[in-house]
Amino acid sequence: MKVLLIGASGQLGGDLLRNNPGHEIFAPGRETLDLTRPTQITAVIGDFTPDVIINCAAFHNVPLCEQQPEEAFLTNCVAVRELATAAQRVGAQLVTFSSDYVFGGNGQRTPYSETDTPQPVQIYGITRLAGELAALAVAPDNTLIIRTCGLYGRNRSKSKHGNFVDQRLAEAVAGLRIEMSCEQTVAPTCCDDLSRAVFALLERPGVSHGIFHLTNEGECSWYEFACAIFELSGYRPDVTPVDRGGLSGTMRRPLYSVLANTRARKLGITLRPWREALRAYLQAKRTS
Ligand SMILES: NC(=O)c1ccc[n+]([C@@H]2O[C@H](COP(=O)([O-])OP(=O)(O)OC[C@H]3O[C@@H](n4cnc5c(N)ncnc54)[C@H](OP(=O)(O)O)[C@@H]3O)[C@@H](O)[C@H]2O)c1
Repeated sequence: MKVLLIGASGQLGGDLLRNNPGHEIFAPGRETLDLTRPTQITAVIGDFTPDVIINCAAFHNVPLCEQQPEEAFLTNCVAVRELATAAQRVGAQLVTFSSDYVFGGNGQRTPYSETDTPQPVQIYGITRLAGELAALAVAPDNTLIIRTCGLYGRNRSKSKHGNFVDQRLAEAVAGLRIEMSCEQTVAPTCCDDLSRAVFALLERPGVSHGIFHLTNEGECSWYEFACAIFELSGYRPDVTPVDRGGLSGTMRRPLYSVLANTRARKLGITLRPWREALRAYLQAKRTS
């Protein structure tokens, strides 16, 4: 298949390139394809005529979305609609990513399935939900939305200043005292596993549209995840659990945003439990 990959310099994009099972992939940088420039979207897609467009780009620094809602809306919604329109024009399938933050987590104790009603509680989640709806409105039969959670991968996320695992390791090496939120429950997900699952999904006959959840299995708080990182990598920093009620200033994060991978599991696609994926990531880091 001819695949146009957007956001290849990021965490997930990098692992999609590394785990490409043999597709012809064109992965232009932001200088060639900036999602905030609709003319570039139309031109690149018109020239390359992909079979599949995989969009890993997003404006997803959550606090920054509160300060710059227009920019967040432009990348996470308007550009996704442009992609869906351009994809429709050339008969391509659009695969675009969304987030566990489309859910509010209030009172939730069990993983959200694809059919649960979203209720985002901050600008970031609102723009992601808007992007989902806009793309599905334009191209309902060939837009695949993949919601995921807590990504970490070998490439650095520029906008998030790295990833959670590498940030904690750096803090441990620096001998810092670490405070970690214990009130938000998530399913941290390794991009190596996610990228393989994305290709597996694309290979399944009949998987052309709709919403899928794809995360590593299980759940934990950020505090528990940090403790596992230190345990598996042999560090013993001073880590204190803190409960801020999901609040950073006036911005709210969901207290529970674990996703149930219901539709993928029915197709036989599962990601390993988060602790196993973390162990493999740390091992790969040691040997690279
Ligand atoms: N990271 C998480 O914890 C998490 C959680 C849930 C969902 N997701 C979603 O999963 C997807 C992949 O996330 P990720 O962590 O791999 O992202 P990432 O590492 O931050 O990479 C984002 C990529 O998008 C590119 N990009 C950003 N704005 C762009 C624009 N206007 N035009 C063209 N390219 C642009 C970046 O290019 P530059 O290198 O030039 O910046 C980079 O290649 C995103 O949709 C994200 O929101 C992520």
